Amino acid sequence: MNRQSPELKQTKVVLGIETSCDETAASVVTKDAATGEGRILSNVVLSQIEDHRPYGGVVPEIAARAHIEHLDSLVARAMAEADVDFTGLDAIAATAGPGLIGGVLVGLMTGKALAAAQGLPFLAINHLEAHALSARLLDDVDFPYVLLLVSGGHCQLLKVAGVGNYTRLGTTIDDAVGEAFDKVAKILGLGYPGGPAVERIAKTGNPTHFSLPRPMVGRPGCDFSFSGLKTAVKRLADGCAGEGKISEKDAADLAAAFQVTVGDILADRTAAAMDRAGAMPLVIAGGVAANSYLRERLDALCRARNNRLIAPPVRLCTDNGAMVAWAGIERFELGLIDDLDTPARARWPLDDTAQPRLGAGHKGAKA
Ligand code: KG4
Ligand code: ZN
Repeated sequence: MNRQSPELKQTKVVLGIETSCDETAASVVTKDAATGEGRILSNVVLSQIEDHRPYGGVVPEIAARAHIEHLDSLVARAMAEADVDFTGLDAIAATAGPGLIGGVLVGLMTGKALAAAQGLPFLAINHLEAHALSARLLDDVDFPYVLLLVSGGHCQLLKVAGVGNYTRLGTTIDDAVGEAFDKVAKILGLGYPGGPAVERIAKTGNPTHFSLPRPMVGRPGCDFSFSGLKTAVKRLADGCAGEGKISEKDAADLAAAFQVTVGDILADRTAAAMDRAGAMPLVIAGGVAANSYLRERLDALCRARNNRLIAPPVRLCTDNGAMVAWAGIERFELGLIDDLDTPARARWPLDDTAQPRLGAGHKGAKA
């Protein structure tokens, strides 16, 4: 065990715990004091996909129980793989929200209990802040930057001026983009989880065979809307299926048209946000940022504007403990330690001065 390794002594070492949705995750991350470089010593993620598949979406009760069942052994694995014991840690970080409250409670209580038992500082992390800072773990990216946060429960554009300093530029007025991917997958009979399945079959489809609406594109502001798009996919899919089942070719063509349309919407809204924020890099984060077609579209947008796109590796886009540990390190360095009575929060906006949009973020399985 790496108790007093001289290398670790001059670095910050933090354990991060993530349980806000359907991934149970634990990770040990370090930050080198001299170079500022982040390193992932371990990153263990247990997906609950198989537990939720029969229901076609995340069932909060099942998620919470699965977190309880697996979290202890996952933490032990993350510590063992990192070759660190508790005396080698500087702090413990756990997601305190937003998310499915039962799951959040499991990770938060575990993190607090470990911190109390080991006499370590505790860091209560906003899951959205963990996504927002994730690019800084492995990439050299300074504040400020524009963040496109696209996940199952959220679709937002923010200006990130520093840790805890977020200004919302735009948000969805109805569904999150990941939620739209999941619903389109369901409509096309692709099952759960939807995003990767839609991306897979879209590769074989013709994106121009069907034409879909592009809600909000070209409108003032930076807000998004996806519910009309999803309804249009449903109408076309029903038309193709008739009395039977949609053909593989039609499903692939619809998936490809949907993905291209999402690309158009994200590019248009992100361009508007970059115009508003001024010259600064674009960072993408969240599960939908794992989509390689959308990464390419945003990369092309940035290249056309002589801008820099920072896209974290896919394993840091979908939910994981490393981003929680990293947000913990960033907050720890600023002395932002939390009390052990910090509550779990089902809703926790990054910019609490921004007005909620009607219905935003309420509907998704992951919201
Ligand atoms: O960030 P995340 O893991 O969990 C939340 O905090 O919501 O994001 C999960 C979402 C799901 O809606 C999933 O379908 C979507 O990200 N997703 C994708 C891809 N991989 C995951 N969407 C499109 N393409 C992908 N390759
Ligand atoms: Zn997430």
